[in-house]
Amino acid sequence: MMLMPFLLLLAVAPLGTLASLPYPVATTYNSLDPQASAQFMIDYFGALSIPSNTTSCSSVTSSWVRFPTSNYEFHFISTPSLAADSFTFSDFEDYAHLSFGNLTEVSASTYTQFMDFHVGMITDDMTPFYQALKVGGVPFFMVGQYPSFFDLFVEIPGTATILEITSQRLDVPDAKISEWDICQVNGTSSSWKLDPQPLPNVSSSVARDGSRGESWPVINWRKTTMAAPHPALAEIFTIKHLGGKHVQQGHPGVWVRRCAKISWVEFEYPEGTYLPGGINYQFHFVDGYKYPPHEPEMTIETFAEKVEKEVRDFGGDSFDEFAHNRVTMWVDDLDYYAEQLVGNEFGVEWIFRTDGGGVYYLVIDSAGITGNVIELVSDKAPVGAADVKTWEEDLCQNSEQ
Ligand SMILES: *[C@@H]1O[C@H](CO)[C@@H](O)[C@H](O)[C@H]1NC(C)=O
Ligand SMILES: *[C@@H]1O[C@H](CO)[C@@H](O)[C@H](O)[C@H]1NC(C)=O
Ligand SMILES: *[C@@H]1O[C@H](CO)[C@@H](O)[C@H](O)[C@H]1NC(C)=O
Ligand SMILES: *[C@@H]1O[C@H](CO)[C@@H](O)[C@H](O)[C@H]1NC(C)=O
Repeated sequence: MMLMPFLLLLAVAPLGTLASLPYPVATTYNSLDPQASAQFMIDYFGALSIPSNTTSCSSVTSSWVRFPTSNYEFHFISTPSLAADSFTFSDFEDYAHLSFGNLTEVSASTYTQFMDFHVGMITDDMTPFYQALKVGGVPFFMVGQYPSFFDLFVEIPGTATILEITSQRLDVPDAKISEWDICQVNGTSSSWKLDPQPLPNVSSSVARDGSRGESWPVINWRKTTMAAPHPALAEIFTIKHLGGKHVQQGHPGVWVRRCAKISWVEFEYPEGTYLPGGINYQFHFVDGYKYPPHEPEMTIETFAEKVEKEVRDFGGDSFDEFAHNRVTMWVDDLDYYAEQLVGNEFGVEWIFRTDGGGVYYLVIDSAGITGNVIELVSDKAPVGAADVKTWEEDLCQNSEQ
């Protein structure tokens, strides 16, 4: 069974270098309360509020924030008028949010498949973020994963998704960081393994940002992890169609027979590219098909199938509520990427959109294999730009302007 994707991988001809590689710009999330989601990013992580580009018709609520230095943006949006009758974002939130365990502990019931939808950011110093979350009484947990790195996992309110922050430094001697046993074979809330030691003050690769009136460390982009129905195919798709490169997945205790299928790809930017954290961008695709609890009512496979069958219609040039959940990357030429998709063997469909002000979007429904929609954005008009629908036409149906 596993042989086929592997052989396919060997046969993959990577994209040429004719176009710029996709460069991380933003992540968009459905939210039950966009204002509260944005405020959470501001209060606990030092993001800055920015005006939303989204149209201001009455059926849309949206709230945007940006991280200084990297300029990475988080967009939160709610469009109840787009909800499909059979399956709404609100239905999904009810299920996924409740499936998460008590995030204050790492036990066999904490980590679920849907928590693999998480953007991963990186900071030189976790200390102030850790302290802010503690003071605010926000549930979160931390796991160690590399010789010296550790990750903090917290839920963004209203979105049923997780934010992951990676760091090497935490000046809090009694903080608990458990071993990253994703399969939870021995995992219990009492099996704390790592005692983080305050690290010596290493010199920061990035300056602290004082814009919040305090001196918070900068948070930079690092990766997007997607709960992917088909991680191996997702990797091949990303290599063939988006210019990614294979990279060895970094969870030594995790493999397909134990609990999860995992594939990683990296965008290896040419020398001279601005990399705010000093690292390339990665996609991590994970199907935690055997995570505890072992028999979820809805898995990431059945979720993806449900969205594809009951909600999505990119073939009919129609946008939907679930397509809000997507990662956005900048490219210099949308036509180049659209041409690569023509006749693709994955059955992946796509639509073009514009903000009506000279910015164009190629919205790719790879969600059936990668878990999330992937959007490319450019200020170069694609062929046929005059016929491209505006976001307003999608989002403002049945509403007063
Ligand atoms: C928002 O609009 C501005 C001005 O048109 C544009 O430069 C920017 O790229 C847009 N951002 C996104 C994420 O679409
Ligand atoms: C979550 O776990 C923490 C730590 O074990 C515990 O103090 C807290 O009461 C738990 N919360 C709930 C809602 O069970
Ligand atoms: C689980 O615990 C047992 C007993 O301590 C140990 O022998 C075994 O290696 C552990 N398994 C994993 C996967 O960590
Ligand atoms: C690191 O530097 C900060 C600010 O100068 C200081 O408060 C902290 O104690 C230092 N931590 C260590 C482990 O030296």
